[in-house]
Amino acid sequence: MSTTEFKDKVKRNVANNFDQSFQIYQDFEDKYQFFNRLALKMAESINLQRGSSVLDVGCGNGISAKALHDRFDCSVLGVDLSEQMIAAGQELCRAPAIRLIQGDGEKLTQIVGDQDFDYVLYNASIFIFPDVRATLDESVKCLRPGGKIAFSFYPQILGESNEDLMSVAYERLGEPEPRFRVITDYDKASRALEDRCGDISHHQWARPLDVGFLQDFFSIPAQSASLFPGRGYEERRDRVVQLFAGLEDMKDKGRIVWRIAEGVKTKSVP
Ligand SMILES: C[S@@+](CC[C@H](N)C(=O)[O-])C[C@H]1O[C@@H](n2cnc3c(N)ncnc32)[C@H](O)[C@@H]1O
Repeated sequence: MSTTEFKDKVKRNVANNFDQSFQIYQDFEDKYQFFNRLALKMAESINLQRGSSVLDVGCGNGISAKALHDRFDCSVLGVDLSEQMIAAGQELCRAPAIRLIQGDGEKLTQIVGDQDFDYVLYNASIFIFPDVRATLDESVKCLRPGGKIAFSFYPQILGESNEDLMSVAYERLGEPEPRFRVITDYDKASRALEDRCGDISHHQWARPLDVGFLQDFFSIPAQSASLFPGRGYEERRDRVVQLFAGLEDMKDKGRIVWRIAEGVKTKSVP
């Protein structure tokens, strides 16, 4: 399979998975207000300015876009591959300053034209991109000089000595770990950001290990697909519940860490 065919296949699967996920995704959000809080955490970490313009890449069903608009009075253009997520987002985001469009985050300039944004943000989406360099090349072009690109990332589940508790959970379940948890890992995404912005800053949001939260988070069809690839949704969900139930005794010792990276477009970047 050529690289282009591989990338297209990944994107088709991502769009299908999220098309199936939008209701469960929203139910999860109603229970935890999680993606809202993660978007605000990212915004605070990068000192996002009130009233600024944001390109929200992988905007999903508009939770991050609405959070940024409601808290920081931002105007937001959201782009997402999934038709169903965008349709749900258009219901959620009624403010005229928010616009959500179905499209590929690797082809941002085609979508936004020559508009320059103050920020390009990826809230829990960049790790799903098969070609992180392509999307960041596009983001830089959509950013004004001095503007910022930032992403929040897939969770790490860590123990007292920073050991990877996800691996511990698989071992206890008696199943092999998937070869890849994410399509693009944090180091690769960070290096690609550094190549475009020079020095970048890293931030973290650490939360206590909450087994119920992890079971709900990874029960979203699109999230469970990477943990138990090749299995039907019902089976994946059962395995996810068992997987994290194995960490009950780690509750007081572990934490869930959400990483955030931030870069600035310097004047020299074309
Ligand atoms: C975990 S959701 C996050 C949604 C939203 N940012 C939020 O905070 O609720 C990740 C989203 O990234 C989108 N996505 C993944 N790859 C994409 C791509 N190449 N172009 C546009 N969107 C993409 C998915 O369709 C999905 O809706």
